[in-house]
Amino acid sequence: MAGELASLAQAFFAAAPELSLQALGSGVHVPSLDLSPYGIPVKHLLAEHNAELARQYLTLNQLAFGGIGVPRWVLSDLYLLPGAIGLLRCPARLLKAPARERLLLADEEPAIGAACYVAPSLTPGLFVGVSLFSFLPGRSASAWVKLLTLGMVRAKRLRGVTQWDNPAVRVHSRLGPMRLVGRVPGGHEYDERTFVYETDLSDEARVARAMLRGDAALPAVRIPVTDLLSLGTLLDRAEAGARLELVPPGQDDGHVLVREVPPG
Ligand SMILES: CC(C)(COP(=O)(O)OP(=O)(O)OC[C@H]1O[C@@H](n2cnc3c(N)ncnc32)[C@H](O)[C@@H]1OP(=O)(O)O)[C@@H](O)C(=O)NCCC(=O)NCCS
Repeated sequence: MAGELASLAQAFFAAAPELSLQALGSGVHVPSLDLSPYGIPVKHLLAEHNAELARQYLTLNQLAFGGIGVPRWVLSDLYLLPGAIGLLRCPARLLKAPARERLLLADEEPAIGAACYVAPSLTPGLFVGVSLFSFLPGRSASAWVKLLTLGMVRAKRLRGVTQWDNPAVRVHSRLGPMRLVGRVPGGHEYDERTFVYETDLSDEARVARAMLRGDAALPAVRIPVTDLLSLGTLLDRAEAGARLELVPPGQDDGHVLVREVPPG
């Protein structure tokens, strides 16, 4: 199944010719990036020379995340200086409300439709998912911009933070099973329903099957996303070493789908 992700990525862009992949970050990192992840060309835009695009990203991030949107200095110091944001660009008319109105762009002007930022970490190959959003519903735009951004930065593993009841669980599980790591170090604004997960990206064929939802459904226990007691117990067990994962599609009808992987 080698090269399967390249075929899937090409099919995604062939079906949506108005979308293109770009990156916004500091020029110093360009040689470290793969600007053709899964064969999709990335146009890298220097953050040093594209302040207007950075402002557009800031506006959309704050719209997507409300009270916990990125502050401007964090965008500069912790996104654009150390890394690169992956962007799906499109004509502004494709954006869902209220993003379109907020940006005040004419219909055909280029806009950010979806974006992903993953931060580099001290552990080689391990990146941390920081911000993922999409204003292009109904076409798996966030799963694609996430996968292609991870390819662009050459990530092998991802640790991310999400909430049991966030529809994004279905997006994250497009890249494969989400192993439960535990609670968020240092806490979180939505602590009681937030957790850290890890996705292993080293097996491209497995990621491709997950993107297609091609694997047979694994046996899983269904736990309501509101059952915070049971979900908290899962995190206790994960923190104590149990191997627990959310299996694709991760979430279904108000439940998360959990399985315990036997040791060995
Ligand atoms: C979560 C988000 C990124 C998804 O955007 P998207 O990729 O355009 O979403 P899509 O319409 O393609 O849907 C993606 C999946 O989520 C599911 N989904 C989307 N909205 C949903 C909702 N309100 N309830 C349940 N499921 C939902 C879709 O059914 C789809 O599932 P599938 O992949 O199994 O078919 C977007 O809603 C967003 O930007 N949210 C705010 C920011 C955020 O929470 N980011 C994630 C932080 S962890």
